[in-house]
Amino acid sequence: MRNIFLPVFITVLLFVLPTKKGLYANEPDSVYLFAYGEENGSGLYFAWSNDQLSWHTIGHHHTFLKSDYGRWGSQKRMYNPFLYHAPDGQWHCTWSLNQEDGAVAHTVSADLVYWQPQSYPVLMPGGNCLYPEIVYDAQKKGFHIIWQSDKPTQGLFKSFTNDFRHFSPATRPEKHPDNRSELTIGGATKKGTVHHLSWEVIDRLISAQRLAAFKQLQNSERVAMNPDRFSEPITVAITPDRQRKKTISDLLIGIFYEDINYAADGGLYAELLQNRGFEYALSDKEGRDKYWNSRYAWSSTHADAFTIDTLSPIHPNNPHYAVLEIEDKGVALINEGFSGIPVKAGEKYDLSLFARSPEKRRGPVKVRLTGKNGESYGETTTARVGTGWKKMKAVITATGTTSEASIELIPQQTGRVELDMISLFPQKTFKGRKNGMRADLAETLADLKPRFMRFPGGCVAHGDGIGNIYRWENTIGPLEARKPQRNLWGYHQSFGLGYFEYFQFCDDIGAEPIPVVAAGVPCQNSAHHGCEIGGQQGGIPMEEMGAYIRSILNLIEYANGDAKSEWGRKRAEAGHPEPFNLKYIGVGNEDLISDIFRERFRMIHDAIRKQYPEVTVIGTAGPFSEGSDYIEGWNLATEMGLELVDEHYYQPPGWYLNNQDFYDRYDRSKATVYLGEYAAHVPGRHNNLETALCEALHLINVERNGDIVVMTSYAPLLAKEGFTQWNPDLIYFNNSEVKPTVGYHVQKLFGNHAGNEYLPSLILLSDSREDIRKRIATSFVTDAETGDLIIKLANLLPVAVSSTIDLSDMEIMKGEAANLTVMSGQPDDKTTIPVESTLSISETMDYELPAFSLSVIRIKRERYRADDMN
Ligand code: AHR
Repeated sequence: MRNIFLPVFITVLLFVLPTKKGLYANEPDSVYLFAYGEENGSGLYFAWSNDQLSWHTIGHHHTFLKSDYGRWGSQKRMYNPFLYHAPDGQWHCTWSLNQEDGAVAHTVSADLVYWQPQSYPVLMPGGNCLYPEIVYDAQKKGFHIIWQSDKPTQGLFKSFTNDFRHFSPATRPEKHPDNRSELTIGGATKKGTVHHLSWEVIDRLISAQRLAAFKQLQNSERVAMNPDRFSEPITVAITPDRQRKKTISDLLIGIFYEDINYAADGGLYAELLQNRGFEYALSDKEGRDKYWNSRYAWSSTHADAFTIDTLSPIHPNNPHYAVLEIEDKGVALINEGFSGIPVKAGEKYDLSLFARSPEKRRGPVKVRLTGKNGESYGETTTARVGTGWKKMKAVITATGTTSEASIELIPQQTGRVELDMISLFPQKTFKGRKNGMRADLAETLADLKPRFMRFPGGCVAHGDGIGNIYRWENTIGPLEARKPQRNLWGYHQSFGLGYFEYFQFCDDIGAEPIPVVAAGVPCQNSAHHGCEIGGQQGGIPMEEMGAYIRSILNLIEYANGDAKSEWGRKRAEAGHPEPFNLKYIGVGNEDLISDIFRERFRMIHDAIRKQYPEVTVIGTAGPFSEGSDYIEGWNLATEMGLELVDEHYYQPPGWYLNNQDFYDRYDRSKATVYLGEYAAHVPGRHNNLETALCEALHLINVERNGDIVVMTSYAPLLAKEGFTQWNPDLIYFNNSEVKPTVGYHVQKLFGNHAGNEYLPSLILLSDSREDIRKRIATSFVTDAETGDLIIKLANLLPVAVSSTIDLSDMEIMKGEAANLTVMSGQPDDKTTIPVESTLSISETMDYELPAFSLSVIRIKRERYRADDMN
């Protein structure tokens, strides 16, 4: 593609030119529209015709509506869509979801372009709803939905509704309306509905399709496309304007922590043994792995000697435990850790386990760290096992270094020995916390200087179905009493890293804690798991909402309550009598803004508002930067007067290049933004200098809008090599190494060089072509604490750019060198790191921005006083 500008220009013209009269002269007044679906369930398509003989598709395979039901990938299908034009002018669309569920889908649109969030009413409990149709009943002023079913009974059924929210029980209709037509579109037969309507509607659909195609074209732009168009030297003159300074958020850079990619067990949580409580279950992986059960990661020198029992556990929340039946001494129970246990010579490891034995002659348990070839990396022996469950502790000092040890537990007796909650923890955790965080990973996070930490997700927060919603109370208290559960990313959550540990970690790194709780609905990508319907439609039943809301209020009391309060006492007992000073709570995570969501969100919000008015409730605006959840999420926030809304979007480089005014357009009188999840995604989904520079560009644009965007967090944060469900991530790691990505360094630069005042600047380019202009960005902020002026300069061009920066009005400290940090390289570099140096500065400073670079210049200022910029 030598030059993308001509096609872009032509496409733009096509949008700009259409007037009310339409795209071309001599268009018909009215035409026919055919609305149809594809057999693969991919969505709703349109074609138009003058004569009902020749049909013209609108866009090449352009879907105007897609199903939101169920999981991404395997589900979200639209079968046999039926479009109905109601007497009030609204367009209703219904479709079948699959062969299994007794629900149909429904949504409504005023213009066939913007569709309201979908609903999935259950019309046929225990059955299915195939080929749904809508028929208007003028007498009853409402609609009949008529469908076919082949379970539990075969036949035709109908249900009446006035509002598509409440439906009458299914009855048998007299006849099948059969209002679908069969037509040949593009050489293939399609079933759908034909409508006679004004050309204006078609015109609008064509424009909408072209706008979508234009956005796609913009999104496909890459940073390094057609480098030879930038062969002329480029210079830029930059003048910051002190007079127009504005206060910006001092919380801009934070971290998004979710237990995805083994971020918790096997990751940040420093526990070295896997499946320590024997609670892994087939259901964690929905039965896909027959080895993923209570025995996972465990083995024995004598396979027959090792079984699992549940008869009388330490705690009902932790029902499984290991049993060894030992005939001859020497039988060992072995744990392999998370693909090996890493130990370092000379370091100490805390061993703990629960054990009991019904035998008269009971002995201690010998515990040994063993290498691949049977060599020992240290050992210890516990006290003598008792007859009842007893927690035993010991310390092992590693005698060598390896990342591949396993642990052997060898009871020094014969007969039955029962073991549970077998744990090995490095004493060197982050800040030496017991049950704490892996030091190197935690330090890497702390180095970002995050101003806040969001937890526990992401999708993990609202779970895969109601039963999988993250319940914070299950994650506090003694480890053996915590209630583990399936992680929707396809593994297990022991909850050793729970709410207390999250709060404490936030405290330790100086970050505001931002817990996110489900808004009474699970993830909108939930599968059905035997429930009547899947997806978010299934909210917590109303009769259980009171208890659910109570639990959220308890969480706030746990964080902020007096140590004598019911929940504050539990925090104090865990070792933190002082409150955690919780200021924010997220309710919901990129949910479908359905009626079910709205009702529950409002209830939770109102309850928090009433009892804890000082805590800010963060709303949610869908998984994308546009579309119905984004729009309705924002509408709801505005209607309810929310202070803060959580936005999520993962976009290609072209989006970041072409949407730099995204937040400049935001209404300052409405809620502020928490950009809770974002990242630049390229094909192959890796993290490189191109993605990192796009994220830097976005953060520069965010700083300019730091009055309305108050927090941002890249997502996801952590990924364990070999255990990853999502790419790209900010930090990769294995058992012994931490591998920050290029994107990490960008976050760190912004986190370490944040400001709280923004100074707009005038940028004069030697060539103001749009493709040049959008590849150069700058931001000036000052930091109240140090008084420093911080200049960030991004150059996404393949050539260096000479800049002249006018600092004459900035009261810079003359003769004092500035600190310069630069990241530069080729767009596909995956290992670029920041390089630090010093830079001599003057009132008119020349600085060359390297090709493909981010530069951060930190300058000390003269006569600095906290308010000296006034
Ligand atoms: O960041 C990974 C996932 O992306 C989050 O869990 C979810 O909120 C989003 O879809």
